[in-house]
Amino acid sequence: MTKYVINGGNQLYGEVEISGAKNAAVAIIPAALMVNGVCRIENLPQISDVVTLLNILKEMGADIRAVNKRTVDIDCTRVRTARATFDMMRRIRASYYLIGALLGRFGNAYVAMPGGCNFGGVRPIDQHIKGFTAMGAHVSVKNGVVSAETGKTLRGATVYLDVVSVGATINLMLGAALAEGNTYIENAAKEPHIVDLANFLNSMGADIRGAGTNVIKIRGVRKMSGGFYSIIPDQIEAGTYMAAVAGAGGRVVIKDVIPKHLEGISSKLREMGVTVVDLEDSIIVQRTDPLLKTNIKTMPYPGFPTDMQPQISTILCLASGTSTVTEGVWDNRFRYVDELSKMGSSIRVSGRTAIIEGVPHLTGAPIKASDLRAGAALVIAGICAHGETQLEGVSYIERGYEKMIQKLSALGADIKTIYVPDEPLAEEQEAG
Ligand code: EPU
Repeated sequence: MTKYVINGGNQLYGEVEISGAKNAAVAIIPAALMVNGVCRIENLPQISDVVTLLNILKEMGADIRAVNKRTVDIDCTRVRTARATFDMMRRIRASYYLIGALLGRFGNAYVAMPGGCNFGGVRPIDQHIKGFTAMGAHVSVKNGVVSAETGKTLRGATVYLDVVSVGATINLMLGAALAEGNTYIENAAKEPHIVDLANFLNSMGADIRGAGTNVIKIRGVRKMSGGFYSIIPDQIEAGTYMAAVAGAGGRVVIKDVIPKHLEGISSKLREMGVTVVDLEDSIIVQRTDPLLKTNIKTMPYPGFPTDMQPQISTILCLASGTSTVTEGVWDNRFRYVDELSKMGSSIRVSGRTAIIEGVPHLTGAPIKASDLRAGAALVIAGICAHGETQLEGVSYIERGYEKMIQKLSALGADIKTIYVPDEPLAEEQEAG
């Protein structure tokens, strides 16, 4: 088992480079299945979710070549199967994007679903199914496998999403790109990675308009052919380092970002007394004065992102006064609160709201990550705390953050990885 050992108390100074966006990469890699020819994808984050997805495509017959650490050539021309029911599919949430991609390419898809959710509550896919059904597919879910069949090909349709769903928007966009006729996705999600996927597909020959608004129009095309594409920077990775500097204090230049994607996070940090300066493709975050309380509700983009909720709640533990954080996207995303309470925080969860009383400091403790963003939040807690924190469950973090320990160490955090013998079986829950 791997643990992080963190000696808290150091302020953070210097520069950190942000990697490509995880949630764009995990949509764009399956999308390569729909392309005839070689897709060169640049700025891929070096995280285990990306490795898993590339291995899934390889198992299906794709030819994958690493050009360098962040660039791969994917050629799916020789893939002949619409079946992706491998065990490794169950490790990552984004495996469900293979449904849209395979339906688009073959008109049928047989895809293993990810297992139970690891931040509590359920993660339904009824909106994906509703959309594919409207597009003419017969969809059934049996023994953890989703089967979607059209006989021939998907047909364009108008689909109104009952909830703003990132996953359903992406999946339907994938299926619609090679469908017959026009598809309209109404009440679509607007996250930057949705726009990135649309840009990728358009650069390969698709015809998608309106991504980034709440109505996306997709005119189905007969085929897409290969090309080059570079993934956008990771909004949540950037936000996580912003929160780390805000919590620990110091001054860090966060490089290779799109400041507009970070507006929801920057404005809340400013309310908390943190200086955030937007430059062209970087931002400066500086915190010298004590943190101020605030109230936050997570919402779909451009609202405050749910994937930053654990990190911001963690630093609010150190703000003066009482803050509230309301989770507006997921039913339950507060499992990390028990771990923070071992470090001396004062948080009460009532329904979807956490009421956080600021404390003067947190104290290092043995704690455990239960999912990706909870893990990132607990690293921040360790950096801000007095004394030593030992964090277990770090494989979650490595699924979604490239070289987090190296990046934080370069900024002055005292954090190292240790290997503890007597490794238990790896947990098989999904990350994002
Ligand atoms: N929902 C439904 N029915 C559906 C789909 C979603 O009711 O068919 C509900 C969900 O239960 C939830 C809300 O709609 O309450 C939003 O879910 P969404 O579909 O947007 O989430 P997702 O696509 O499964 C992605 C990210 C998550 C991120 C959410 C929200 C990926 C791989 N995952 O999940 O990221 O929290 O959007 O922004 O893109 C993470 O990166 O740590 C992570 C969990």
